[in-house]
Amino acid sequence: MRPSKQKRMERLNREYSLYFIDIYKNQNKVLVYGEGNLDAKLALVGEAPGRHETVQGRPFVGQAGKILDEFLGILGLNRDELYITSVVKFRPFKVNPDTGGISNRPPNKEEIGLSKSWLFKELSIVKPSMVVSLGNIALQTLANNPKLTIGKVHGTPLDVELGDKKLPITLFPLYHPASIIYRKELREIYLEDLSKLKNYLPSS
Ligand code: URA
Repeated sequence: MRPSKQKRMERLNREYSLYFIDIYKNQNKVLVYGEGNLDAKLALVGEAPGRHETVQGRPFVGQAGKILDEFLGILGLNRDELYITSVVKFRPFKVNPDTGGISNRPPNKEEIGLSKSWLFKELSIVKPSMVVSLGNIALQTLANNPKLTIGKVHGTPLDVELGDKKLPITLFPLYHPASIIYRKELREIYLEDLSKLKNYLPSS
């Protein structure tokens, strides 16, 4: 009999954790795994965990997570109906040479390249019929197209095939919820995209 999705996901996370420990020796990278319903029809994919996610070991629990929860509320969705993950599972950060302060930075090409097969494999365990990408990094990684930009394709579903196995999914690109924090004018656009998304939501 085929192992349960839970077992397959645990095995996958263990395998990639060992792989990343080996790659980033002595760097004490904290990995934040995807979480939620392994039978979800809808998965959300962000960019990478930040400080709060790294402390709590859960995706989207900081400021961006609060905005995400508000948007899920508008869609009438609960986190436990969804699967939520990020392209990169550790916090990419930079250190200010003057103050020693640590801040987030976008994941670089190498980090994304090392992480994407993990993402594709976890999505192929969950097998959602729709994946919402949050921001440019998730969009470009899932569509396998670095030229796509969220400013051009937000709110428009795309049919894509994921990874070597060519898992077919419908990708629905949204801005990253954190972008609303810095660009207040995006809020209206976000709400319009959410109402479009409502029409495409798979029935559970
Ligand atoms: N942003 C992401 O993309 N993922 C998280 O888990 C948190 C913030």
